[in-house]
Amino acid sequence: MKNALIIGASGQIGKKLTQIMVNNQQNVVALVRDKSKLSDIKGEHLTIVEGDLKKDFSHAFNQSENKQCDTVVFVAGSGGSTGADQTLLIDLWAACRAVDYAKANNVKHFVMISSIGADKPEKGSEQMQPYLVAKHMADEHLINSGLLYSIIRPGSLTDFDPSSKFTSERPAQKDQATITRGDVAKALLFCVNNPPTDNTIVELFNGEEPIEEVL
Ligand SMILES: NC(=O)c1ccc[n+]([C@@H]2O[C@H](COP(=O)([O-])OP(=O)(O)OC[C@H]3O[C@@H](n4cnc5c(N)ncnc54)[C@H](OP(=O)(O)O)[C@@H]3O)[C@@H](O)[C@H]2O)c1
Repeated sequence: MKNALIIGASGQIGKKLTQIMVNNQQNVVALVRDKSKLSDIKGEHLTIVEGDLKKDFSHAFNQSENKQCDTVVFVAGSGGSTGADQTLLIDLWAACRAVDYAKANNVKHFVMISSIGADKPEKGSEQMQPYLVAKHMADEHLINSGLLYSIIRPGSLTDFDPSSKFTSERPAQKDQATITRGDVAKALLFCVNNPPTDNTIVELFNGEEPIEEVL
């Protein structure tokens, strides 16, 4: 089992992943803006680090003096209710800096939560295009970094109960191109513990297969 730095650990997916890894007794460094958001997760395997993604957050990468950080998971996001300025600062620029910090700290595997549509931003709706461009460029920065990477591009996120069933085939019906946040967290856990031998970019939806068949 691997250890991980989770960037965006107080978010809806990030918190689920943090909880599962701590329950599994895997070492987690959780980067958050506000420690109190993780006050309900306890365990000797959890190190909470405060940091703002709009400032220098390199300190989060060297928390474990005797334990090399195997994996970085970038699951932060500016959120749908903010404007393009925050999208630029968090989804693009902070993600790129996380890649640079990971490289400087010899991280072995970088897992990026991207988005469906990030491969072809111009095909997205006018409203979504700035977000998709940000995700696209952050993915490109990771692809060109030389790090081993897994880029996960989930469909629209939902809060239904997780099914533990997945597909990487984009459903024909747009309203079925969804995945629960709980299942994204499970997929990320699999990804952390089973780093790919080759760099991977995959769209992810709820489907019919177990995660090991899809990733
Ligand atoms: N919504 C969708 O349908 C969809 C589809 C595909 C992909 N995605 C991607 O999925 C990812 C996570 O989704 P989610 O629902 O878990 O998001 P979320 O609940 O909004 O979590 C976002 C996280 O980013 C953190 N963050 C934002 N600005 C920060 C800053 N300046 N400094 C430090 N942390 C900051 C938030 O911290 P706070 O807790 O302090 O706010 C939170 O931990 C995002 O990358 C999103 O783009 C979403």
